[in-house]
Amino acid sequence: MTRSGQRPDVQPPDMSATERDTLLFDLYGTLVDPLAIATALTRYLPDEAAQRVAAVWRQKQLEYSFRLTMMERYRSFAWVTARSLDYALLADGHELPADARASLLDQYDAPEPFPDVEPALCTLTEAGHSLYVLSNGSPEMLQRCLMNSGLADHFVAWLSVDAVGAFKPSPQVYQHAGTMLGCTVGQLWLVSCNPFDVIGAKSAGMRTAWLNRSGGPFDTIGDQPDVIVSSLDELATRLARP
Ligand code: 2OP
Repeated sequence: MTRSGQRPDVQPPDMSATERDTLLFDLYGTLVDPLAIATALTRYLPDEAAQRVAAVWRQKQLEYSFRLTMMERYRSFAWVTARSLDYALLADGHELPADARASLLDQYDAPEPFPDVEPALCTLTEAGHSLYVLSNGSPEMLQRCLMNSGLADHFVAWLSVDAVGAFKPSPQVYQHAGTMLGCTVGQLWLVSCNPFDVIGAKSAGMRTAWLNRSGGPFDTIGDQPDVIVSSLDELATRLARP
């Protein structure tokens, strides 16, 4: 199997070959920090404005993804990310030239991974787990982001919701992952810092690990995660427990 983006020819892992787990990682917020784009924004805006715009950008990006799915009017996450940037700038009273907007969107695809990610991915692979990415990101965004962040080699493949035309937490997303990997959703783990993603995956039948990076409470709807960790370092240990 080659490491590439979402591939229709992804061969299902031989689930009988190992009792180790198949882990699907959310990308934005879990492996890379979408709010870190505030640094690129400071090239054009004062620091405080950059922080505000980055926060509204992320919030609007997810809100648009939920609304477009509910309306059954899917557009790619690249389109959603560009339109949510436009909204965040307008809401804070800024207009940027086209080249600045284009540069920000390029920067969005070149994030730094969180510090705990690479060591944990190495440990999980050494423990025999099969690692994939399952993300709202468009195939092109995932390819660029995983290559630019240096994380691509840790994953067998990456799956974009683009194939189903619906965003998380639509059950179609999680069912699609099972279909692509040739196994039931109950055989798969979803690892995410986003409670809406964890609850959606659990509702679809997956086992779930919530990476609580914020230290805040879990949502008050849906089932609790199977595992809660505060950093990815803990995940390998928690999965190893009988
Ligand atoms: C992702 O799908 C939820 O944006 C997050 O990577």
